[in-house]
Amino acid sequence: MCGIVGYVGDKDCADVLVDGLKKLEYRGYDSAGIAVFQNGEIEVEKSKGKLADLENKMKNEGKPSGHCGIGHTRWATHGEPSDINSHPHGNKRVSIVHNGIIENYKQIKDFLTGKGYVFESETDTETVAKLLDYLYDGNPIETLSKMIDKVRGSYALGILFKDYPDTIFAVRKESPLIVGLGENENFIASDVTPILKYTRKYYLLEQDEIAIIKKDSVKIVTPENEEITKEVLTADWDVDAAEKGGYAHFMLKEINEQPSKIKTTISPRIQDGMPYLEESGITMEMLKNSKRIFIVACGTAMHAGMVGKYVIESLARVEVTVDIASEFRYRNPLIEKGDLVILISQSGETADTYAALKLAKERGATTVSVVNVKGSTIAREADKVIYTHAGPEISVASTKAYSVQLSIMYLFAFELAYAKEKISKERCMELTKQLMEVPDKLAEVLELKERCQFIASRLVNAESLLYIGRGLDYALSMEGSLKLKEISYIHSESYAAGELKHGTISLVTEDMPVIAVATQSNLLEKTISNVKEVKARGAKVTVICKEGTEIGKDVANHLVTLPAMEDMLMPMLAAVPMQYIAYYTAALKGCDVDQPRNLAKSVTVE
Ligand code: M6R
Repeated sequence: MCGIVGYVGDKDCADVLVDGLKKLEYRGYDSAGIAVFQNGEIEVEKSKGKLADLENKMKNEGKPSGHCGIGHTRWATHGEPSDINSHPHGNKRVSIVHNGIIENYKQIKDFLTGKGYVFESETDTETVAKLLDYLYDGNPIETLSKMIDKVRGSYALGILFKDYPDTIFAVRKESPLIVGLGENENFIASDVTPILKYTRKYYLLEQDEIAIIKKDSVKIVTPENEEITKEVLTADWDVDAAEKGGYAHFMLKEINEQPSKIKTTISPRIQDGMPYLEESGITMEMLKNSKRIFIVACGTAMHAGMVGKYVIESLARVEVTVDIASEFRYRNPLIEKGDLVILISQSGETADTYAALKLAKERGATTVSVVNVKGSTIAREADKVIYTHAGPEISVASTKAYSVQLSIMYLFAFELAYAKEKISKERCMELTKQLMEVPDKLAEVLELKERCQFIASRLVNAESLLYIGRGLDYALSMEGSLKLKEISYIHSESYAAGELKHGTISLVTEDMPVIAVATQSNLLEKTISNVKEVKARGAKVTVICKEGTEIGKDVANHLVTLPAMEDMLMPMLAAVPMQYIAYYTAALKGCDVDQPRNLAKSVTVE
């Protein structure tokens, strides 16, 4: 949430900042701004709205010209999106950009008001800007060190002090921040995407470390001003990965990348035809001894966990509880030593998932994270990490990250079931082989684009939709429903098909389209009965099923037929038509597909 970028070097700073913010806009996009040193003065430009609004403003009014500066793209927490509430905040002496939440901003504000400070914005960030101004005595490190003592909450801060016109200062607590290391130029950024064009080398800033960044040097110190030697990391994402590559939207590109990303994620984890998670520290011994499993995550990642639960329980016969992280952290869960807690997160920075991780560790459970962003907080702090290799996911609506999370859930379930001696080596190899076939089958599923486009054209005027399924199909329909509502703004619910008659079916009319997922052979008849029930009440029904399933015209208005695989693996295929239907419905409605209203990628606040 919120993107930060900073640049010092020979290039035109405003251009580099705006270009960098474009790469970070997925983190928040309700306002943007930059602060640049121009002839020794801090010049600020900011604007409500998308980055394009800031660019237009600078086109009309002129952009600050200089070689050192900071920029920000915002997702509002305190105060509505407006010019005044946009970052940077501060004055002619100190200017800051901030990602995170200042918990004690009210106390700081009251204190500073008592000292005669007047506040213009409704943001928590302005209190830090003014606090820095109040504490500043000519020594930035001492000032930042005092600030660290006084401020509670989460922050990644990029800071300019007027007296240091060739230097960016940066500090972080909980919110992520990296320092990009270029040739005669250096950067700060919320993640690696803005720096990839210039360099792959970077430092990961740790809690309360202070970075002093000049064109030709980067120094990292503790709050006590002791220099720290840090490991230089290398980003392995492609520059192209953060570009649309000819697709109309990142979401469409990311949907189409799924076969290759699944292959890259599972291939290194298969040895001699068997799942092999040892490189992530998941040993057979550990799996054999694990008692209960908790899967904790948010949103789409939680839906991947739901699929994981069904597969693990049915194959390995181990009890799995799936929790929404924001519930788990406050429900005093019964976890103890011996339990395995799996945290799933694309960004690795989701605040609630991170809190759940800390809680699980406190209670003595073994923690395993399944994370896409290398070096992110959840990846680093879990006992073990299994990286998914989806590459950067830019669209706010998660697609490829979900598929790779699913692929890891399967590998984990297969290996666990084998370790627990619930399946034979032959069966484990057979399942693994089928998982390896998923990318090719998915390539076929991607060809269903036009069919899904047509179905989307029938949904575009709906006010409300219902997604139904049983078992794994229910877990999948939860994801289908979330995808549609978050980007098309059409209300939708997912419901266990067998539960409809207990109340929700009263909503069904000819105006409420229903999407039924029916890929599980053992549940097919039951699901079809439920479909007939909604059809009898006028609903127009789309059924997603697999090849060879007989669905009469009296059952479905529209059919999406998937290549056949073992039932258990069908969610990997069925996810794609759901994503396509959501995508095309939103695109036909003219919605801002990649940046839906009110949302942001990487939810680093509670
Ligand atoms: O980065 P995470 O995987 O932890 O994010 C979790 C959710 O915020 C995320 O999946 C969200 O639900 C997406 N917008 C869904 O498309």
